[in-house]
Amino acid sequence: MNQNEIKIFCPATIANISCGFDVLGVALDAVGDEMIVRKTRYKGIRITRISGYDLPKTVEENVAGISALALYEHAQPECGFEIEIDKKIKPGSGIGSSSASASGAVFAMNKLLGNPYSNTELTAFAMAGEAFASGSKHADNVAPAIFGGFTLVKSIEPLVVLELPSPKDLYAVLAHPQIEIKTSVARSILPDKIPLKDAITQWANVGSLVHALHTNDHDLLAAALKDVVVEPYRSQLIPHFDKIKNEAINHGALGCGISGSGPSVFALTSGMDAAKRIERTMQDVYST
Ligand code: HSE
Repeated sequence: MNQNEIKIFCPATIANISCGFDVLGVALDAVGDEMIVRKTRYKGIRITRISGYDLPKTVEENVAGISALALYEHAQPECGFEIEIDKKIKPGSGIGSSSASASGAVFAMNKLLGNPYSNTELTAFAMAGEAFASGSKHADNVAPAIFGGFTLVKSIEPLVVLELPSPKDLYAVLAHPQIEIKTSVARSILPDKIPLKDAITQWANVGSLVHALHTNDHDLLAAALKDVVVEPYRSQLIPHFDKIKNEAINHGALGCGISGSGPSVFALTSGMDAAKRIERTMQDVYST
């Protein structure tokens, strides 16, 4: 039977995961948008409904629309598509709001077309929308949104995405300071060059983090969740960042850092009890 309509969950994502600027990312299973995509007899892409946030319905101005068009123009199908978006992830919050829409649109269309594209090809289509939203080409949010779990983007030209193991007892806690930071601005304050000693620290941490995921070694994960390259610059944009990070780590978080380009702050924990403790800790910092 041909399926004409699909409803999907589009996960929020934490990009960078501290040490892996532009390469590491992870999908969250409890936070995300919903999208309904249906085939239409008339050709073209239409965004018929967006709830939750005020975003453009014009296809060429919407990240979901731009990504959908990239796939559509490549596939040249006999049908068209209508897209409805229930936006739950606040745009500009640093947990992959635009990526959720971009990846959701192409993931759903691929299903309705009978899965002609691989996850890597879908990531490439979704990158078109992501690039429009952030002003730069990176796949560390769209890749985990499409593949699920932890991913490492080995390169974007050619696009190579590696799937990493996702330890079951690992939890993420997120705090959203009520400010918006545009990814383009958060990128513009970064230096073009970094000292060799920082580069050595950073790539040792990325390698260690990947090894920690493969071996489910939470102590090594904690040691690797450090960012000496980007966080020193971006943390200045986030109110009380140092305090929230210190408190989270003092209360048992494996690590704490900026989610994507911020302003959201994430902490990773071993188990749900620690996650609840860190949630209360973060709430206390922001309410005092
Ligand atoms: N890696 C990107 C950045 C993610 O940090 O600028 C943006 O969400």
